[in-house]
Amino acid sequence: MPTVHNMMLGRANRLIRRSSGYGFRFGKQKIRSAMPENAPQIFYYRGLSKNYPDVKVKDAVRHIVHQGKRECFHLTDLHTAENLIRGWRQHLPWIQPYYAIKANPSDVLLGYFNQRNVSFDVASMKEMIQCAQLGVRPENMIFSNPCKTESDLEFAEGLGIELTVFESIGELHKIHQVYPKAHLLVRIKAVDKDAQIQFSHRFGVTPEEAVPLLREAKRLGFEIRGTCFHVGSGVEGGREAIYKKALDDCRAVFDIGEELGYQNMDTVDIGGGFGAEEDLTIIGRTLSGAKDLFPGCRWMAEPGRYLCASTQTAAARVMLTKGNQITINDGLYGTFSCIPYDFVSFDDAEPVDYYGNKVRNLKSWVVFGPSCDGGDVVSNSMLIPDDVKVGDWLVFGSMGAYTQVSSSDFNGIKRSEERSLIEVAQVFQSEPNILPKHEEGRQIMV
Ligand SMILES: Cc1ncc(COP(=O)(O)O)c(C=O)c1O
Repeated sequence: MPTVHNMMLGRANRLIRRSSGYGFRFGKQKIRSAMPENAPQIFYYRGLSKNYPDVKVKDAVRHIVHQGKRECFHLTDLHTAENLIRGWRQHLPWIQPYYAIKANPSDVLLGYFNQRNVSFDVASMKEMIQCAQLGVRPENMIFSNPCKTESDLEFAEGLGIELTVFESIGELHKIHQVYPKAHLLVRIKAVDKDAQIQFSHRFGVTPEEAVPLLREAKRLGFEIRGTCFHVGSGVEGGREAIYKKALDDCRAVFDIGEELGYQNMDTVDIGGGFGAEEDLTIIGRTLSGAKDLFPGCRWMAEPGRYLCASTQTAAARVMLTKGNQITINDGLYGTFSCIPYDFVSFDDAEPVDYYGNKVRNLKSWVVFGPSCDGGDVVSNSMLIPDDVKVGDWLVFGSMGAYTQVSSSDFNGIKRSEERSLIEVAQVFQSEPNILPKHEEGRQIMV
């Protein structure tokens, strides 16, 4: 006998299956008949990039929207990831990148980075597990959190992650209690007052402050392998003077360490802090000039933002318009969590259409996210056409860094769903006539 409870469950499951769009199959017939009369318009914004999304991303977004997608989503583009890796290897070939997972833990991205021999900077047990599940070897991870929990340290030891960092006596004693065989980098204070996210008020020591730390580490029998720093996050630009000072301080700590009898100091870790669209030519010149300071040493870095920001484009659907207010289905508790946490703004953002043309009849809207919170404000002044309607889409480029990772399901609202360009392109290949007539001839490039 079906119980009321089971009947309700069955009904809920049927509704869940139906709620993901207008049509269920990718077939041409199905999609055409499922397309609403009044096709949605899509407006493209620069988002956090200097440029608008490129044509292959726009094609993929259009394809997903025309499939009848209704929930917010973000599209991961591995071509861009590949170009970033190539850029890194061209300009900084002697520095091994350890991708800082904290910037974006997408499995699609991590899997690709792993295939391309990028290593990983992990900050917690969860990130270690994610890497281990991908088959990343422990020697290709650094546990670079300057303030670790005992259980995470135990886990790192169990997994065989050897390299970690410290910058205080308290942390040194904690590591000694839990994982005395860990190899250590001393974190140097690097000051950049222009960085959006600064670290120097919290982390790092001067060479003078490093002396008692190195002495205590010697007494406890630790292996000191070198130094690390982070110049601060969210700035574009060479920052020549800041890197130069940080590297001079690293050299001073190497000298102190060698005097104290450390014989295996062989690692310089320059951390993260590369801009989302950083021109690595300039930084490459600065850093290569410092190579001679550390003869025979290995160099590593922990880029987060640089390797993920421009790989993802975010798309949100209009849920309601009311006066000068508009509500979209992604907000401050979702992808746009970068507004409070990464200090970015979408005010006065101006869209283009699919062909890159300016959109007419723009008006300034207050844009809200989907939660019931009055503070869920994406922008107080975003430019959107005055005739925008429910079901239209706003699409933002370069939304891959510090966005999904800080989103939540506040109000029980679903987080943005990840789609990948490759997966979308595979559908194109198997169903080449999938697009409506006026869009034929456009193909997603893989
Ligand atoms: C220790 C450490 N390494 C790397 C990163 C990544 O920084 P970015 O995204 O600026 O490259 C961070 C960011 O918080 C960090 O704390």
